[in-house]
Amino acid sequence: MRVYDIILKKRNGGALTREEIAFFIDGYCDGSIPDYQAAALCMAVFFRGMTDEETAALTDCMARSGDMLDLSRFGSLTVDKHSTGGVGDKTTLIVAPIVAALGGKVAKMSGRGLGHTGGTVDKLESIPGMRVTMEREEFLRQVEETGVAVISQSGNLTPADKKLYALRDVTATVDSIPLITSSVMSKKIAAGSRSIVLDVKAGSGAFMKTPEDARVLARNMVAIGKACGRNISALITDMSRPLGTAVGNALEVIEAAKVLRGAVKGDLYEVCVALASEMTMLFAGVSHAEAERQVAQAIESGAAFAKMKEWISAQGGDAGWVERAQYGDGASVSVPVLSPADGFITRMDTEAIGAAAVILGAGRARKEDAIDYSAGILVKKKTGDAVQKGEEIARLYTNDATATEPAAKRYLNALTVGTEPPEKTGLIFDIIR
Ligand code: URA
Repeated sequence: MRVYDIILKKRNGGALTREEIAFFIDGYCDGSIPDYQAAALCMAVFFRGMTDEETAALTDCMARSGDMLDLSRFGSLTVDKHSTGGVGDKTTLIVAPIVAALGGKVAKMSGRGLGHTGGTVDKLESIPGMRVTMEREEFLRQVEETGVAVISQSGNLTPADKKLYALRDVTATVDSIPLITSSVMSKKIAAGSRSIVLDVKAGSGAFMKTPEDARVLARNMVAIGKACGRNISALITDMSRPLGTAVGNALEVIEAAKVLRGAVKGDLYEVCVALASEMTMLFAGVSHAEAERQVAQAIESGAAFAKMKEWISAQGGDAGWVERAQYGDGASVSVPVLSPADGFITRMDTEAIGAAAVILGAGRARKEDAIDYSAGILVKKKTGDAVQKGEEIARLYTNDATATEPAAKRYLNALTVGTEPPEKTGLIFDIIR
């Protein structure tokens, strides 16, 4: 078999066999297929797509490219979640302790931020002392004792995705439905949880810009999860504006703690309750109404916040920090962004807002860049809100005084201010079960 023929077949719109896909994944992982041929194949898939059978075979080969985690000791209680990525998306920090407080077992591997989207591992690392790497036995012991452990994708889990994702990131082939499906689902299947809830983001800050595209992606991922014997559902949620108020690592952990303490409601609370309820339905086998009741009770009783602190301590972090920390701590520069006009915010280019946070130091433009954990943005007015000229609509935090001007410019360019309020849209577009 020659990889040239596989590329040619896909370029001409053919459907690859399982053997051809396995040959490609094996060869790419062992280095016998070079990046330039893998990139050509990704681009051919981007334009030609894949059948359901091809996507399932690709997912399976990628999942098997490394170790598969065995969580069978936890029976049916294991439950994972995955977001396709967004701006201000700190949902894992909130739903993981809620679900663990309700008896679920959350054994989760998360990623770092890249480009305009944040990553859970970077957010966790903004907590003083927090460790995000662990040996397998220690990780499983923590899940057993605390109900939740979240670490960085480590060891030899889905090496095919690690290589392919890095390649796609620099070859404009990320936003392909079969490639996202196989990337996400190979990791979820190798990570071993019995139940999986996907948060598929749609809007200006997401890879899928419309709910229709997000629906196609969600249906593909749910079908593959089911074919692999998992309980799985996908929520399609709004990413046409940042989720919650905080964008940036420490800022987002502080906001997550506020939600768990019952001090913050609004869009972030609503999406987290929906995700945690779906996870609880799947792992506990209860109705949606009962799951929602349990989730609200876990927050109101303080059990979920207590679980967050227990989780932080178990991973070596300073649990008292989430009670003490204030927005802006650690940032030597804090500047407001002022509304340029009277009116209503009618649109936010959320990807550009993520990019403004990266300019401030909250994310990486390149993999090897260092992060300023205290940097980021508090978004004070969002789409639909009325604004007055000169009013503070956001606050920027950084330790790099030269970053505020370009970041503020980027932020303001990301907003459209009009005279009429925009049509109201919901937060949760659909649930695919
Ligand atoms: N998240 C992933 O894990 N993979 C993708 O391809 C896109 C988003």
